[in-house]
Order: sequence, then structure tokens, then C-alpha cells
Amino acid sequence: MNILHIDCSARRESHSRQLSAAVVERLLAIVPDAHIRRRDLGYEPIPHLGAAYATALSTPATLAAAGRSADALCLAEQLIQEVEHSDVIVIGTPMNNFTVPSVLKAWIDQILRVGRTMKSTPAGKVGLLRDRPVFIGIASGGVFTGDRANQPDFLTPYLNAVLGCIGLNTVHYLPLQATAFMDDARAAERRRSLIATIEPAMASLVRYAV
Ligand SMILES: Cc1cc2nc3c(=O)[nH]c(=O)nc-3n(C[C@H](O)[C@H](O)[C@H](O)COP(=O)(O)O)c2cc1C
Repeated sequence: MNILHIDCSARRESHSRQLSAAVVERLLAIVPDAHIRRRDLGYEPIPHLGAAYATALSTPATLAAAGRSADALCLAEQLIQEVEHSDVIVIGTPMNNFTVPSVLKAWIDQILRVGRTMKSTPAGKVGLLRDRPVFIGIASGGVFTGDRANQPDFLTPYLNAVLGCIGLNTVHYLPLQATAFMDDARAAERRRSLIATIEPAMASLVRYAV
């Protein structure tokens, strides 16, 4: 099993990092020899898109002619291949201003590309990648789901849309909310209960445990 493990927090004492690490630990308990590919967007952000990449994506004819080898697409191609080679994707991300942090948005901008990871149809965009489970641990200072929600959530609907449009439809969220009011013991307890929610999804992964 190949795990792509992505973190987005710039902080070392990060709740979302601990959450994504706990998911990976759970996966390793099932498949101890799983291979882990790390992409740490928090510590090593990828650049926001430059002029060459933006131009390539904005002129589809040039893009088609250049194929995958165009210089402007090198980083995008590397990041897309990391996704393609994965069987499971684990993401740890904070909620920043009701949505994803800019480092994760920069990654998304490299991953979504017409003619490569999705195609445009009259009915909308259709994903070209094989579906696979995506586990997303979210840390938020406040609350964005349920009766106690006191802010909008542009994070989970947005990720559903962008991941879905490239073919990744099996997305599991682990929201660790109200971190601003949480001590370490409570956070650990909450992490354990969130991990318990993904146990049913783990059943589909035991086939890798040979
Ligand atoms: C720039 C910035 C924006 C934030 N925006 C929100 C927000 O919209 N909603 C929220 O609940 N918490 C927000 N927070 C708080 C973080 O989501 C919270 O501290 C979270 O635990 C950070 O993730 P980490 O512990 O993995 O670093 C924000 C924090 C920062 C630094």
C-alpha cells in the first residue's frame, strides 16, 4: 500500500499534524510495510503558480501540444504523479479563515488540470483519476459543524468539489474543532474518538494486509 501523507500546518505543535499522524499510524497497524510518501506543505510550501504555468493552463492548445513534458508543468506533473501512485491519501490541515490554508490551495492549483486529471464535458468536469480513500484531519480553533457551529464552512464543501472533480470521491473528514479551548488531554481523547469514526473505512484497506 502506498500512502501519500500531506501536512499543511506551519506549526510544530499542530493538532492537524497529530491527527494526520494518528491516521497514518492506524493505517500502518493494518499494513506495516506500507510505503509513505511525504509532502509537507506546511514546512516546505510549494510556490504559488507562476506566469508560465498560468499561461500554459490558460491556453489549452499550447498545453496539449506541449504534453506533460512542458517545463511549466514539471512541478504539477510531480505532484499529480504522487497522487496517482498512492492507494490512500492522508491530509492534515488547519481551517484558515473558513477554508483551506493557502499552502493547500497552491497544491490544488497544481493538481487540477483539464486534459490531465479531469475533462470538461457539457455536464461539467469529470475526474480522470482512479478513486481512492482520502482521510482529511482538520483542526479549527472554533466550531464549524453541528448545532454549536458559529462560522461558515467553506473548507469541506470546497475539498469535496475539487477532489471530486478529479475523481477522488471517497473522502473521510476528521474534524478536531475548538482547538482554541482544548488542553492536551482533551485533544488526545478527541483524536482517539475521531480515529474510531474511520474504522468502517479501514475494512476496505485490509486487502492490502497480506
Ligand atoms: C490565519 C489563521 C486563520 C484562522 N482561521 C480560522 C477560522 O476561520 N476558523 C477557525 O475555527 N479557526 C481558525 N484559525 C485557528 C486554527 O484553525 C487553529 O488554531 C488550528 O488548531 C490550527 O491548526 P494546527 O493546530 O494544525 O496548526 C485560524 C488560525 C490562523 C492562524
